Amino acid sequence: MNTALGIIGYPIGHSMSPVFQQAALDACGVDARYMAYQVAPDEVEEFVNGLRQPAVLGINVTVPHKLAVMPFLDEIDDWATEAGAVNTIVNRQGRLTGHNTDGYGFLRALRESAGFEPRGRRTLVLGAGGAARGVVLALAREGVGVLTIANRTPERAESLAQLARNRGITSSPIPLPGPELIESAATAELIVNCTTIGMTHGPGEDETPLPGDAIPPTALVNDLVYNPIETRLLREAAQAGAKTLGGIEMLVYQGAASFEMWLERPAPVPVMLEAAIRAMQSRI
Ligand SMILES: NC(=O)c1ccc[n+]([C@@H]2O[C@H](COP(=O)([O-])OP(=O)(O)OC[C@H]3O[C@@H](n4cnc5c(N)ncnc54)[C@H](OP(=O)(O)O)[C@@H]3O)[C@@H](O)[C@H]2O)c1
Repeated sequence: MNTALGIIGYPIGHSMSPVFQQAALDACGVDARYMAYQVAPDEVEEFVNGLRQPAVLGINVTVPHKLAVMPFLDEIDDWATEAGAVNTIVNRQGRLTGHNTDGYGFLRALRESAGFEPRGRRTLVLGAGGAARGVVLALAREGVGVLTIANRTPERAESLAQLARNRGITSSPIPLPGPELIESAATAELIVNCTTIGMTHGPGEDETPLPGDAIPPTALVNDLVYNPIETRLLREAAQAGAKTLGGIEMLVYQGAASFEMWLERPAPVPVMLEAAIRAMQSRI
């Protein structure tokens, strides 16, 4: 076996990617190993240059290196340039290209796992960090309807709303929490949690960014948090009669997009999803 794939981060022990990417490689009979590489910030340049060798198909990139890898690549695609972050590097005959599959993974999860078409739909995004930026850019590309962005730090919500307005989307920032949040949720057709609230070992473990009684039964609630698989937000949304979508689908679809770029063949998404869910359940 001499084909190499993997993920770099610092630290990297928490990453789910090796589990579902290896499952995909095995299911497709590809003789390759997907490894996790812990790379310190001062080793990034040397590591990226080492990816030009023929045995390497490419790698995924996670925190804190998504921006740091960019100067060492030969080309960066539109999604990664807009997001200001690379999560996938492809090696073709020593030429390295940078991509960002988060937005694509988010949209594919919405469409394929929840049957939801975002064009023209009134949407509430909770949070304004890195994940929210990718989600807002993806929604703006698809011509989402009125877009409200709720965040604890108001300046970050305003700057994301401005990003959406620059792309022709009607968008405004509101505080999280607050009465405007409850008001905005009441008419939202799509609610996406991009905060870390509800995340295992996070600051707001088993908390929710939005009270259950503020969730309309007609909405789709997508929580990007994937650990735990069922967050309090998703539990309360289901109790309110709303449709729900967890974060593990986006995680797998963004990885499937990387797989498809490296191997130029369809990714076995059901296999990847099953491996990710099984691994997550065994972590609890
Ligand atoms: N499913 C997937 O594929 C996928 C992909 C990417 C990320 N995620 C998940 O998405 C979540 C966000 O990731 P990120 O990279 O965007 O993180 P980030 O850049 O650190 O942003 C964190 C966001 O959470 C908000 N927040 C944190 N603690 C809060 C609190 N106690 N009260 C109110 N707001 C709070 C922050 O508000 P301030 O701006 O006020 O600090 C900010 O908006 C994580 O759980 C991550 O695992 C999932």
